[in-house]
Amino acid sequence: MAVDLDDIQGLVRHAYSRLTEACFYVLRIADAQAARRWLSSAPVTSAALAAKSVQEVLQVALTSDGLRALGVPQRMIEQFSSEFNGGMSADANRSRRLGDVDTNAPENWKWGGSAAPHMVVLLYAAPGRLAEWTQAVTGPEWATAFSVEVVLPTTDMKGLEPFGFADGISQPALDWQLSLPSHDRTQPDYSNLIELGEFLLGYANAYGRFTERPLVEPADDPQGLLAPAEDAPDKRDLGRNGSYLVLRQLRQDVQGFWRFHNARANGDPAARKATAEAMVGRTMAGVSLLEGAQAPSPDPGTKAGREQLNAFTYAGDADGLRCPFGAHVRRANPRNGDLPDASGKGLLARLLTTLGFDAAALRGDLVASSRFHRMLRRGREYGQSLPPEAAIEDQGDGVETGLHFICLGANISRQFEFIQGAWITGAKFNGLAAERDPLIGERQPLSDGSETDRFSLPQAEGAACQTTGLPQFVTVMGGAYFFMPSLRALRFLVTLDHSNTSSPVGST
Ligand code: HEM
Repeated sequence: MAVDLDDIQGLVRHAYSRLTEACFYVLRIADAQAARRWLSSAPVTSAALAAKSVQEVLQVALTSDGLRALGVPQRMIEQFSSEFNGGMSADANRSRRLGDVDTNAPENWKWGGSAAPHMVVLLYAAPGRLAEWTQAVTGPEWATAFSVEVVLPTTDMKGLEPFGFADGISQPALDWQLSLPSHDRTQPDYSNLIELGEFLLGYANAYGRFTERPLVEPADDPQGLLAPAEDAPDKRDLGRNGSYLVLRQLRQDVQGFWRFHNARANGDPAARKATAEAMVGRTMAGVSLLEGAQAPSPDPGTKAGREQLNAFTYAGDADGLRCPFGAHVRRANPRNGDLPDASGKGLLARLLTTLGFDAAALRGDLVASSRFHRMLRRGREYGQSLPPEAAIEDQGDGVETGLHFICLGANISRQFEFIQGAWITGAKFNGLAAERDPLIGERQPLSDGSETDRFSLPQAEGAACQTTGLPQFVTVMGGAYFFMPSLRALRFLVTLDHSNTSSPVGST
């Protein structure tokens, strides 16, 4: 079956960076019937429209509690993944794995901690058009249908995240043409082209399998709204063309970040920039540290520029001398293939490396292959944009600043939770002794008491140079797991036989 772009919410295909105004409404459903009416007439934007041609965008996604509040039968809800149904914050073990402990703990969150929200409505608009668009979208039904748990406004920081680094550079390329062979074969080399089924339910994933998702009996879909499941044609696919959406409000301590680097650099601007860049793994302009300080910097605002900025792997930097192992971008995407790197070696040496007899290549075996752990990042910044000098001199107006982190994927546990848990929060990532992501990690000691507030800079000779006493720069303020249905699935969800559902509906 061909890919039906009309059926897919646009955020899967586009980041809508030209729509610089955005606001996210985190909602609870107060009246199920009104919510269904609102959803059935909501002008949800599809992926078929070119990003250039739209001036306003509306996207919607629901939590597990939200589906229940909408009146979706439990037998359908329970076929969604267990992490989606469990929620981001309901389980102490999940919180520990995600680093949601201490100041990050759900009990301290502003929203999403003790009670999961039901829905998120994402609004995007061209400059100057958001207020009008919001008014048009919310309409008379909105106030009856929903109670607003939190409004998440955003700020256009011109392609930078609040610490001042170019962002939105690296994204996986989705195999919209379905050109990748659909079977589980080893890929020795890193590739940025990833199976559609890694991001959309209902297609073959990187293992050549169909990710579990809700399939319904044809009797449950008398209007034939849903497509037959490709892997089970006697069932209708409620998941197809849908994706999971992870939303986390991440507060960034911009002053703390730049004051720390300034103090370590004794006030030297070049030195403080260099240590900050080592922790990110890219220069502030977005160039990989593999390129060296004098490299020209292509424009991250253009497609060609982003392609140039992403044309690398860490294969030539096996000792982390140019880009430290612990740097944020090297953790978040180690850019490795399924086998230790054997490029540039002769046949025998390649064989020995592949079989695991090459001691120097063993490090390459410590990290899971990237292709199973990619995500589409769609976050937006919020608060005040503050350049490093102003942050150091305390010129900020005290407004909370950070990132409304959003990522999309077909498997929350293998994608977001793995990257966040094993690679960002994991203190032993890539053979490191006890350190978490220097940019966004929490700093709780390990269970044996080892401190994790450090960052290692490998040296050509001797032991790595260590920065200690690293403060926590990013704090989780809220979050939830959502399902972003296809447009057909949305129609199906709001026209289900709800005769057994009373209204208004509370959360369970
Ligand atoms: C406030 C929090 C965060 C900040 C300031 C931040 C900053 C950055 C920056 C500056 C880049 C480089 C630009 C780019 O490649 O687009 C980047 C890349 C990336 N970040 Fe983050 N990030 C944050 C949170 C997260 C979280 C929570 C995750 C995942 C759980 C994550 C995953 C990634 C990934 C996958 C990349 C691309 C790496 C690559 O493909 O090379 N980031 N981030």
